[in-house]
Formats: sequence, structure tokens, C-alpha cells
Amino acid sequence: MVPAAGKGVRLGPGTPKALRELGGTPMLVHAVRALARSRAVALVVVVAPPDATDSVRAMLDGFPLPGATELAVVAGGATRQESVRLGLQALPPEVDVVLVHDAARPLVPVDTVDAVVAAVRAGAPAVVPALPVTDTVKQIAEDPHRPAGAPEPVAATPERALLRAVQTPQGFDRATLTEAHERITGAGEGATDCAGMVERLGRPVVLVPGHEEAFKVTRPLDLVLAEAVLARRRA
Ligand code: CTP
Ligand code: MG
Repeated sequence: MVPAAGKGVRLGPGTPKALRELGGTPMLVHAVRALARSRAVALVVVVAPPDATDSVRAMLDGFPLPGATELAVVAGGATRQESVRLGLQALPPEVDVVLVHDAARPLVPVDTVDAVVAAVRAGAPAVVPALPVTDTVKQIAEDPHRPAGAPEPVAATPERALLRAVQTPQGFDRATLTEAHERITGAGEGATDCAGMVERLGRPVVLVPGHEEAFKVTRPLDLVLAEAVLARRRA
């Protein structure tokens, strides 16, 4: 499943993020192809903005997928969590392993996809590709009275060696992910990470090595990096 119903606010104004072009091809097409390259992937369900399902379908139909991968497009929701829940409802009954992959990670290598699938098939209910963090990370103290723009007080410094930055595709035993979405109905902005919902169920979540090229296109500089990675691949 490819959640692609976000607004891409942090990327700035312009074309919706999933439809921004990288090397002349929409980011969403790259992401769908990246999954379809895996022999384990038989169906890709794209979760589109609710007002754009027809146009996203028409756009994707212009880019044939490798192999015999099938494609479906369904309407998403206001948060990523809601979009994933709607995507899950569109899966046919015979599907037992689900990958959830951000449209905003267009360059994930097929080996990463395959490693996640293999770990789920080996028995892990939830599998996440991850890399050690390179920056030291500070936790800040929540203070509703702090004026906007004022310096942020630091509350803690988690030990960097124990931190991992997580990527997608995250892989799940279908029943586990469905149960998480039924039992954990998030308030606020919803879960930004499906595996976090499985953790809240008390089920084990494991990490496998991620890949530098599976980075998420979030801010304008990420587009520059993505173009450079594509150009290097094509060279
Ligand atoms: N997503 C979604 N439905 C939403 C929000 C996000 O399907 N209501 C998807 C995005 O399209 C993206 C993925 O979740 O592929 C990861 O989200 P993020 O990188 O945060 O993308 P956006 O939400 O689009 O960006 P921003 O937060 O900057 O607005
Ligand atoms: Mg977002």
C-alpha cells in the first residue's frame, strides 16, 4: 500500500507532493515501481487524495508496472493513519502480508523491500527498515506558555547509539496491522508510523537495515538530493 494522500505542506506550495516530478516522472510512480520491482508484490494499492482518485488513476495508467503487478487506487483521509486504514479496507481477502510504503520515499531499493518481506514471512508481525541516526537528538520540554520563536528548553538527550531513524516500506502480518487500526483510534494528527501502533498493542516490532536512498522527500532540499541520486543511477 502506498499512502499518497498528504498535502506536502513542508515541501512548499506547488504541485501536490506525490505528483512532483523526479527526473521527469512523478514521485508516486517511482514509489509504486519501487515496490512492484519486488517479486513478492502482487498488488499495489495507492491511497490518493479523496478529490483526486480519478486523476491519480489516469496518471498511473500512463506508466506500466514491471511484472504482473496489479494496481488499485482508493480515497485517503485527513491523516496518514486514516489513509492507511482506508487502504487496508481495500485489500482482497487472500492478502496476508502488507507493506506500507510512503509515496514520499520514491527511491527505496528493491533489496530493502525484499528484506522486509522476508522478515515478515519468517514470522515477525511487524518489520521496519531503519538506520542509526547521525545527528545527536535532543528531547525538548513541552511548554504551552513559551512565546513563538523563543529558545526551546532541553529536557533530555537520549543516547545516540540506541536511536534509529525508521523508513518504509514497513511490513506487517495483515491481521496484526488490521487489529492495530481497529483498536487504536488515534486522536490529533494520528500515527506517523504504523509500527508505532503495533507497539501500542504490545506486539513485537523488529528492525532490519534500511538504506540511505530510502530517505523521505519532505523539504525542498530533499528534492535536490533525490534528483542527484536518480542522476547517479542513470549515469
Ligand atoms: N499521507 C497520506 N494521507 C495523509 C497524510 C499523509 O496518505 N492524510 C502520506 C503522504 O502522502 C506521504 C506519507 O503519508 O506519502 C508520509 O507523509 P509525509 O511525508 O508527512 O507527507 P505529507 O503529509 O504529504 O507532507 P507534510 O506533512 O509536509 O504536509
Ligand atoms: Mg505529513
